[in-house]
Amino acid sequence: MTSTILISGANRGIGLELARQFAEGGWQVIGTARDPAGASALRETGATVMPLEATDPASIAALTSQLAGQPIDVLIANAGIAFNLGAPPAQVTRADFVKVIRTNTIAPFMLATALKPNILASGRKVVSAMSSLMSSIGANDWGTQYTYRASKTALNASWKALAREWAPEGITAFLLRPGMVATDMTEGQGIDVTLSVAGMKKVVEGLGTADAGRIIGYDGFDVPW
Ligand SMILES: NC(=O)c1ccc[n+]([C@@H]2O[C@H](COP(=O)([O-])OP(=O)(O)OC[C@H]3O[C@@H](n4cnc5c(N)ncnc54)[C@H](OP(=O)(O)O)[C@@H]3O)[C@@H](O)[C@H]2O)c1
Repeated sequence: MTSTILISGANRGIGLELARQFAEGGWQVIGTARDPAGASALRETGATVMPLEATDPASIAALTSQLAGQPIDVLIANAGIAFNLGAPPAQVTRADFVKVIRTNTIAPFMLATALKPNILASGRKVVSAMSSLMSSIGANDWGTQYTYRASKTALNASWKALAREWAPEGITAFLLRPGMVATDMTEGQGIDVTLSVAGMKKVVEGLGTADAGRIIGYDGFDVPW
C-alpha cells in the first residue's frame, strides 16, 4: 500500500528535495508552502501542494480541516528559520528570539499535535521534525547561534516528551539531523542536499518503534543530547 508523507516548508531547500525523493520512491507526498502559487518546483515533483504558515494557528486549523480523514504515515515538520547566527549576545534581540522559537519550536509541536488523528489512522505512525547538531548542549564547544540553538534544543525536549507520551498509541516520534546542507539557510555552505536527503529517507524508511525519542543524523549517527 502507498504510504503518505507530509513535509512542511517543502517549496525550497531540504523540504523540496525530501518531496522529490519521496515522490520518486513511490510515496504520496503532501508538501506545504506559505505561497502555494509560487511553489512550482514542489508541484513538479508530483506532490500535492497545500498552504501553511506554520506559526499561524488558523493556518494549521485550515490544513487539518482539509486533511480530515486522510491517513498520514509520516510527518516531517521541516519548516524552520535561522538568521544573525554569528551575532554576539548583546546584539540578540528579544523580537528575534521570539520569532525563532515560534517557528522552530512551537510550530512543529502544534503541527504534530493537530495532525495526530491523521497519524493514528496510518500504518507507519511516524512524527518527526528537523533538528540540528546545534541543538546539542553536550556538543556545544564554541558558542554563538543563541536563538537557533535554543529553539532546536527546546524542539528536542518537546519531541522526547511526545515520544514517551505517544509510544503506547503506536506513534514513533523522533528527530532528524540533516547535517550542514547547502541551502539558502547556509548561504550555499555544506553538503549537497541530495546526499543529506537520501540518508534521511533511508532513516525514515528503516524506522521502528524502538527509535522513538532518538535524534538521528542523515548518516545514521545520533546527535548527543
Ligand atoms: N541547511 C542546513 O544545514 C540545516 C542544518 C540543520 C538543520 N536544518 C533545518 O532543516 C530545515 C530546513 O532547512 P533549509 O536549509 O532547507 O532552510 P531553507 O532553505 O531556508 O528553507 C526553509 C523552508 O522553511 C519554510 N518556512 C520558514 N518559516 C516558515 C513558516 N513560518 N511557515 C511555513 N514555512 C516556513 C520556508 O518557506 P518560505 O520559502 O516561504 O520562506 C522554506 O520552505 C529547518 O528546520 C532547518 O533549521 C538545516
